[in-house]
Amino acid sequence: MVPAWTFVATAHAVRNAGAVPWFVDVDPDRWALTPDLARAALRTAPGPVAAVMPVVPFGAPFDLAPWEDFQDETGVPVVVDAAAAFDTLVPRSVPAVVSLHATKVLGTGEGGLVACTDPRLVQRIRQAANFGFYGSRIAELPGTNAKLSEYHAAVGLAALDAWPETRAAWMAVAGHCRRHLAPLAGVTIQPGFGESWIGSTCMVSFASTGQKDVASRLQAAGIETRAWWGDGPSGHPAFRDAPCPVIPHPAFPHPAFPHTAGLAARVLGLPFAVDLGDDDMARVAASLERTLNRPGAPCPM
Ligand SMILES: Cc1ncc(COP(=O)(O)O)c(C=O)c1O
Repeated sequence: MVPAWTFVATAHAVRNAGAVPWFVDVDPDRWALTPDLARAALRTAPGPVAAVMPVVPFGAPFDLAPWEDFQDETGVPVVVDAAAAFDTLVPRSVPAVVSLHATKVLGTGEGGLVACTDPRLVQRIRQAANFGFYGSRIAELPGTNAKLSEYHAAVGLAALDAWPETRAAWMAVAGHCRRHLAPLAGVTIQPGFGESWIGSTCMVSFASTGQKDVASRLQAAGIETRAWWGDGPSGHPAFRDAPCPVIPHPAFPHPAFPHTAGLAARVLGLPFAVDLGDDDMARVAASLERTLNRPGAPCPM
C-alpha cells in the first residue's frame, strides 16, 4: 500500500521488491497517508497486503510512533519513504529510508541511509546489503552489494561535518522565501518550513487549482518551477497498465484519487537552492504575485 501522491520512485521500489503497488488516496491537509487511512484501506484491500509504505511529504516533520502502533496492531510491516527527511526524521523501530541524492539538503552525490531503532532489523539490513555476510564470510541471507560506495561515504562524512553551516544556509534562503511569499494572498508554504525544519524544495499550495497555469506563466517569465510529484505514479504507464513482471498479478485497477488530484492541481515547487539570494526570491515572488493577480495577462520577465 502506497500513497497515490508521491514520487514515482516509491512505486518502483514496490515493483523491485516483487510486489504490486496498491495506491491509496492521501489526507489532503497532511499531504500523506495516515495510519487511520491505511487502517480503513486494509478493510477493502484487493489482495494480501505485504507492507505499507507511507511517504514523508517533502521532508516535513512526520511522527513514526503511530505507524509503529499500526504495525503492532495489524501485523502489516511498515517501511517509510523518508527520502527528503534528513533534517526532521526521528528514527523508530519502523525503518525509514532517507535519500542522500545531490538534490537533498545533505547530499553524498548518490545513495541513501536507513534509520531504524530495531537492532535485529538493522543487522538484517546490514547483512542483506553486504552479500548476506555478518561477522563471517558465509552468506546467511540472500543479499547484494547495496553498501554506500567508499567515495560517496567520504563525501557524506565531509557533508556531515559541514551540516550545521549547510543547514543554516538552507534556512537563510527559506527565510527569504517566507518573507517574500508571506504577503501573497492565496499562497501557503508548508507549515514550519524554514522556521522549525528545512528541506531542499520550497513547496507552495495555491488556494485555487491553477498550478499548471501558474507554472507555465512563470516559465514564460524565465522562472522554472517543478511539480515534483506530478499527478502521482498511478497514471504512469509503468503502473497504469503493466502487470508485475515478478508475480503473475495484473496491476490493480486504480480508482479516482480526489485528494491527490486536488494537491496535484494546487501544489508547486518554486525555485529553491542553497545559493539563491534575497533578490532572487523577491523576483520570484513579484512574478508570482503578478501571475496570481492578473490570470490572463502576460507575466513580464
Ligand atoms: C518521495 C521520494 N521517494 C524516493 C525518492 C528517490 O530517492 P533517490 O533519488 O535517492 O533514489 C525521491 C527522490 O527525490 C523522493 O522524493
